[in-house]
Amino acid sequence: MSKYVVTIVLAITLATPVVYSDNSTMTKHLKVLIASNDLPVSGVKLLQEHFTVVQNRFSYYGDDEKVQSQEECLKLVPGCSAIVWASSHSITDELLDKAGPNLKIVATASAGYNHCNVDGLKARGIKLTNTPGVLSAAVAEIAITLMLVTARRFTEWLQQVESGKWVNGLDKYLGQDIRGSTVGIVGFGGIGQATAKRLAGFEVARIIYSGHREKPEGKALGAQLVPQDDLFQQSDFIILSAPLTNETRHMINRSTLGKMKKNAIIINVGRGDLIDQEALYEALKNNDIYAAGLDVTTPEPLPADHKLLKLPNVFVTPHIGSGTERTRNEMAILAAKNVINALTGKSLITPVLP
Ligand code: DGY
Repeated sequence: MSKYVVTIVLAITLATPVVYSDNSTMTKHLKVLIASNDLPVSGVKLLQEHFTVVQNRFSYYGDDEKVQSQEECLKLVPGCSAIVWASSHSITDELLDKAGPNLKIVATASAGYNHCNVDGLKARGIKLTNTPGVLSAAVAEIAITLMLVTARRFTEWLQQVESGKWVNGLDKYLGQDIRGSTVGIVGFGGIGQATAKRLAGFEVARIIYSGHREKPEGKALGAQLVPQDDLFQQSDFIILSAPLTNETRHMINRSTLGKMKKNAIIINVGRGDLIDQEALYEALKNNDIYAAGLDVTTPEPLPADHKLLKLPNVFVTPHIGSGTERTRNEMAILAAKNVINALTGKSLITPVLP
């Protein structure tokens, strides 16, 4: 064999990742940080098959843990090629700087990525992926749950059950029907559409949505695009499933609340900051609108003595939209697969920053 041929064979061999019999590529030398202790084990295992995984021993919930968690991440991140982020806390410039030049991708196990420091990632040329799609059904189920419990005044009923004093007269504490109502969906992406699909059996009068353009899926779901002000004025239920951006921050405020019907019910499964909470509190307290069902708040957790929680027409859940076993596993696996693809030169499955 000539020297020339040997060189070519050697070059090809070196450029091709070694594939083991179990199909994993030789990527074990790459370090991946799982940035909290609560990523479902399915995602952790998949990452461990391919990489050297370091995992934060703490979660981001609870005041003490939050500080420990941040410190541990800063300790573990130097030299990492990927970070899997599984919390809604912000990714700081400090963390990205500490990671250093090896860092190629951040994979957040969430659909929302407002906490991901997109500018910081962009400036450093780091890819970002999220996990849309796999969580739409679960979040839509929580949206429907919150519609039901607010329309049927569960906060008050639960108080009565707890106190043992039921006021169950035929004309007492009557709720509202979903049947015959107009449901307005702000943010008609995966979650908004999954919610519309699930409303099919509720005999609603209309489903309307707002947004920049008509969605091709709208027609089949019987949903109609309307200007946002019309949606606020006409809806009996207003479901917020939009991402948090500069444009959507505080879209529910004194002015938009003032346009709503007296019987309007606001459901938020997007992000707490879609709502100016002070304005919402006033509107609920004065019965300018009927009720609110919130799976997301500002801050999270909402302090137990928060004035919103004292209102009879509010029902709050602790950001559990995607919280089913199946969905959280699918999110973890999708985040892990995005990391694998990014670090083995394949296309990202759900890119935010490709
Ligand atoms: C998301 O993925 O953005 C959801 O808020 C998680 O529940």
